[in-house]
Amino acid sequence: MPSALFLYTSSHHGNTRKLVEFVASSLGARAVDLLRSAPPPFGDEELIVLASGVYFQTLSKPLLACIQSNAFAGRRVAILYTCGLPLCDYAKEAAGLLQRQGAIYLGSHGCRGFDSFGPLRYIGGIAKGRPNEADLRSALSFVSGLLRDASHPG
Ligand SMILES: Cc1cc2nc3c(=O)[nH]c(=O)nc-3n(C[C@H](O)[C@H](O)[C@H](O)COP(=O)(O)O)c2cc1C
Repeated sequence: MPSALFLYTSSHHGNTRKLVEFVASSLGARAVDLLRSAPPPFGDEELIVLASGVYFQTLSKPLLACIQSNAFAGRRVAILYTCGLPLCDYAKEAAGLLQRQGAIYLGSHGCRGFDSFGPLRYIGGIAKGRPNEADLRSALSFVSGLLRDASHPG
């Protein structure tokens, strides 16, 4: 199976970390928390997966900054995110930045994540228990599919 590198941030409840740790460890891939470490130099990875929670309708500022300051040209890149309420494709801004950087953007996969931001805390938050087992498996299947495509191009 071709290799993947995961770059992520997760600051609200660790929802995205849970998702990334499950998918990356299932694939034996490296996952780097951009809030703790700089992204490593890219090597021969077949796929780079960027992941974060959704904050004010888009992905985290450190993740967007990472896209703008690294060499994504010609790289196959996909996005994973967790959000309180799935109302639209929250990866749109990140996808635009990736395309401007010359990346080969392969799409996004989002799932719900426990959200107790602002007034939501008064009702105990929403999407409790998410991401759940089914969310983890569905994110794994999204990334595995992209890796399979990488090993059988065309
Ligand atoms: C400051 C803030 C803003 C948020 N804005 C949105 C939003 O616009 N749309 C949404 O669906 N969820 C929103 N959420 C909920 C998070 O996207 C959700 O809880 C996510 O799973 C957090 O991921 P994390 O625990 O990895 O940081 C917001 C949460 C915070 C803390």
